[in-house]
Amino acid sequence: MIMKINNMNKGFMDQVLNGKSIDALYHLGICSDDPLLNLMKDLRAVVMAGSPDRVKRMAENWSQGSKISKFPKDERFSAYYTNGVLFCSHGMGMPSMSIALQELMKLVYYVKKGSVEEMEKVMWFRIGTSGGFVEPGTVVLTTQALCADLKPYKLFVLGKEKEFDPSYPESFLEQIIKANDGKGVTIIKGKTVGANSFYIEQNRIDGGIALCTETEKLSWLKEIEKQGIRNIEMETPVMAAFLNHWGFPKFAAICCVLVNRTKGDQVKATKEELESYSLNAEKVLLNTLS
Ligand code: URA
Repeated sequence: MIMKINNMNKGFMDQVLNGKSIDALYHLGICSDDPLLNLMKDLRAVVMAGSPDRVKRMAENWSQGSKISKFPKDERFSAYYTNGVLFCSHGMGMPSMSIALQELMKLVYYVKKGSVEEMEKVMWFRIGTSGGFVEPGTVVLTTQALCADLKPYKLFVLGKEKEFDPSYPESFLEQIIKANDGKGVTIIKGKTVGANSFYIEQNRIDGGIALCTETEKLSWLKEIEKQGIRNIEMETPVMAAFLNHWGFPKFAAICCVLVNRTKGDQVKATKEELESYSLNAEKVLLNTLS
């Protein structure tokens, strides 16, 4: 068994499975007794992306004629279940992702009736965008997700720092690369910086507030590249942190690069270019799921 049962909040969740209480997954807008959970019993993957439009489009592409069940609420996150896959938006940044992810983890627990054998089979993906050091359109598979100080994600528990595991499962990344062999999308593997802001922690100098110079920014980029960082985004550290905490064996962040940060800060790609870059990450997902 791979999963870490002791790290799951079984005391709370098993009461729900035993019918003694109902869990309101408030931000997802669904309760643990919703009939939709039974409908999702064949769930094999959870696909997250920042934007609600993107998850809707991915669900439509994936449905292949199957019914698409939309979660009733979409004030915070939008979620669609179709053809064995749950697509859910996570918003921008780690606090937002941390809420979506915790509720999705509980949802998977309820859908799989707490069976570790069944949960281990579930794949998790973040399909995202990022800045990087390579040409836009390149897809980066995260091997390790670090915060802007190049340390693992941490939270304060009772006022004390709790650090989490930043690694992404190597064997699953290899499975993704194999599934995409010869399929025409350039994929690289590398470490990712997940920053707490788009401007300041990514050391952009085009924000309303700029706290470093162009020279300092370029030397930071050079330094992190030397340390194996291949892209910069805003959610991968918490994804690794929480999924490793439960011990899920199959998860990946598949992010396309929108802007080569050594050449500038602004995302200047046209709508068509942005679409084609994003589609690269989605192709990698589809080749893996198919
Ligand atoms: N998302 C980010 O967080 N940074 C970028 O540079 C592009 C997309």
